[in-house]
Parts: sequence; structure tokens; C-alpha cells
Amino acid sequence: MGDSAKISVNDSEYEYGVHSGSCGPDVVDIRKLYSETGLFTFDPGFKSTASCESGLTYIDGGQGILLHRGYPIEQLAEQSSFMEVAYLLLNGELPSSKEFADFERTITLHTMVHEQLKELYRGFRRDAHPMAIMCGVVGALSAFYHDSTDITDPEQRMIASHRMIAKMPTIAAMAYKYAIGQPFLYPDNDLSYTGNFLRMTFGVPAEEYELDPVIEKAMDRIFILHADHEQNASTSTVRLAGSSGANPFACIASGIACLWGPAHGGANEAALNMLREIGTPDRIGEYIDRAKDKEDPFRLMGFGHRVYKNFDPRAKVMKETATDVLNTLGVDDPIFDVARELEQIALNDEYFIEKKLYPNVDFYSGVILSAIGFPTTMFTVLFAIARTVGWVAQWNEMISDPDQTIGRPRQLYTGPEQRDYVPVGSR
Ligand code: SDX
Repeated sequence: MGDSAKISVNDSEYEYGVHSGSCGPDVVDIRKLYSETGLFTFDPGFKSTASCESGLTYIDGGQGILLHRGYPIEQLAEQSSFMEVAYLLLNGELPSSKEFADFERTITLHTMVHEQLKELYRGFRRDAHPMAIMCGVVGALSAFYHDSTDITDPEQRMIASHRMIAKMPTIAAMAYKYAIGQPFLYPDNDLSYTGNFLRMTFGVPAEEYELDPVIEKAMDRIFILHADHEQNASTSTVRLAGSSGANPFACIASGIACLWGPAHGGANEAALNMLREIGTPDRIGEYIDRAKDKEDPFRLMGFGHRVYKNFDPRAKVMKETATDVLNTLGVDDPIFDVARELEQIALNDEYFIEKKLYPNVDFYSGVILSAIGFPTTMFTVLFAIARTVGWVAQWNEMISDPDQTIGRPRQLYTGPEQRDYVPVGSR
């Protein structure tokens, strides 16, 4: 493509620069469009809009490619760890052994939460959805950590980033324990990030917790698969909240709120509930028909994606992990059979082929999480733990961008034109 794009408005010609990234579509720089032409662009859902420049993650939706700082997700899922991916996203390069050991130790030493934070949980009903608790407790963190909310200080930004990544598993495990009426467990600094989370979730004070290395590896891989994903809805929410100068804890809380939606991170819970409702392979056809019926709001949860018009590479790794975990645990979950059968039927159905709808990261994750022992209400909480790494990395990238400014979109106004107030006696 050339290095500029021309637009003619009312017989006048305007020219705008075209910029290329390291890979992916070029962009037309329209920052001066309104001041020069008086026109806004119109792009609800931002299907054709690049909201920022970023070097963290790249997705090629046509090829089903996902890179974190250039490394393919398949290689990271196979050879790396969630903490190493966190370091990579935050710092841009894979760490040396010493860099990684220092980073892991730093995160470990931030995993405890303020004792007073426990009182917040007592304000919730025991049957509160864990995501409601996550929104509330994470949003309240800025009340406990005033010494790391000055976003203009890089040192405080990094401490807040480490605190956020480190405390999410503790806060999440406490939300689960509160829901089932069991006591909170303190972190154990001798365990890995993921092992510590599993122990805080499934361990009890009455006995030693036996950490299954296969489950620990599968959970860590699931965290890797959910770490970051370009400017998805929740990441864009975090960036927009951060653009006003809000403190990092409030920004992450806004990301958690957005992720909860069933069209986004809430899809993993909705997908497993859907598979359970289908129940047996013979009922799949009925649900496929409903998904294709324009009059029916039902959608196949865990299918389709704004960017992937080919296989979501994370779904492929997730499906392999599901097979490993179910075999290791000796779990013969009929829901997994329904999922695989549903995938095959959908991928051979003209509707799904024509609309390029493939399984996404949320389609198989619930089968694994359910086999490990998580209730469906915890699925999006697990997504939030992992995506906190991406949200924090994207937030840091935005705040340290010298051109950063508050995000403030415009609109196409279709409401009433100016009119005079009519007193109630004359209406
Ligand atoms: C995540 O953005 C990210 O990167 C998100 C994420 C991340 O890591 O952050 O990848 C995580 O959110 C994955 C997506 C999880 N959501 C679901 O599984 C919910 C089910 N999927 C759909 O709601 C939908 O596919 C979306 C929301 C994911 C994408 O919606 P788009 O891009 O706006 O696509 P669309 O709604 O315009 O759909 C295009 C067409 C429509 O038909 P037409 O109006 O053109 O006739 O495809 C149809 C839709 O009706 N369609 C589906 C469908 N998804 C889209 N039909 C049936 N079942 C579906 N799942």
C-alpha cells in the first residue's frame, strides 16, 4: 500500500499518512480528519479501528496466529511458564535465569493481602457470584496500597503491577473459599505461582495439600493461553480507564467487570453450561439449528471471534490439554464427547463455514476446569487471573507512551435538535 490515503470531501482533496507496523494491516492516520474536514469516522464496535500502537501481542485472524512479543503461543504453551510469559509481556524479552528467579521471588513476596481486606468478603452473601466479589475487592485495593498509586512514578507503577499480578490468585482463591464456607489459606512461598493458587483454592488447614504436577502444569498452561490478546474489550476498557489517570487497581477492576460479559470472558462459563444443557450428542442438532435461527438470540457459546476467522490457536492447545487432563485424572466426562461432536458438526455446517465461525479459547477450557474441580462460576475468575498480566502490561505500555492522552470518542448524534422547554401545564 502507498504511504498516504486520499479522501475527497465537497470537491476538496485531503491526504492522510499510512503507517506500517512490523506485521499486520497498515493504518491510515486520521488524527487530523475532524479538524481539517469537519467529519468524524463511524465505526461502532471498532471493527476497522486501531486504537493504539502496541508491541505486546499480534494476532493474524486469517492464519490463526497469536504471538506474544514475537513468540508463537504454541511454543510458549509447550516450553514456557505463566510467570515467564508474564515477564516477557512486561519487559519485552525472555529473562535470563537470574532475571527470572528475581522476578518470581518478587511476585511471590507480594502474594499476601492486607489482613483487613478479609473483612470486605464478609459484606457479600455467600452465594455472591465470585466475579462480583472480584470486581469489588480488586477495586478496593487502592484503599490499601496508597504507596503505589502515583502512575507518573515508574517505580510505583512497577510495584503496583507486581502487586496486581501477585494478589489476583489470592483474592480469587479467597472468593472461592468464601462461597463454600471454608477458611482462607495463606500463600505458601515455597510453591510456584500456579501451585500456590491451587493450594489456596483446594487445600484445607486440616491436612497437607497434595499438589498434582499434571494439574499444576495444565493450569499453568491455561493461564498462558489467557494472558493477553491485543485490544480485546476488557483490555480496551483498562486502557480507557487508565487514560484518565485512574489508579492501576481501579483500572484492573474495570477490566474484570468488562471480562464478565458472556460475549467475552464470561463465555467459558456459558459454554460449559450450554454443553451441559445439550447433555447428549443426539441433541446437538437442535442447538445448531437454534444458533442459525436469526429469530433466536441463542448463540453457540465458545464459537466465533471478532478477529479469528480461522481456528483460534489457543483452542487447539486447550483441546489437547483437555485430553491429557481427562486421561490423567481418569475422568470420562460425557460433556467432552458432546464438545468434540458439536465441533465436528459445526465445522462441517454451511452456516458456520460461511461465517467463518470456529471454536475459540472458551470452548474447551470449561471441560478441563470442571475436571480439575472448579465450579462454572469460577471459570471467568480464572480467565481474569491470567488476563491481569496482559492488562497490566498493556496499561504500562499506554502510560509510558509519550503521546498518551485521555480516550474520548465522538458520536453520530441522532437525537432531537435544539428545542425550548415546555412547562408541565402546557404539555
Ligand atoms: C473472548 O476479542 C478477543 O480477543 C476476545 C478473547 C480474548 O482473549 O480476549 O478472545 C476472549 O471473548 C472469546 C469470544 C468468547 N465469546 C463467545 O464464545 C460468545 C459467542 N460468540 C459470539 O458472541 C461472537 O462470535 C463474538 C462476540 C465472539 C464475536 O462477535 P462479532 O465479531 O461481533 O461477530 P458478529 O456478532 O458480527 O457475528 C458475525 C455473524 C453474525 O451473523 P449475521 O448477523 O452476519 O447474520 O456470525 C454470527 C452472528 O449472528 N455468529 C454466531 C456466533 N458468533 C457469531 N452465530 C452463532 N453462534 C455464534 N457463536
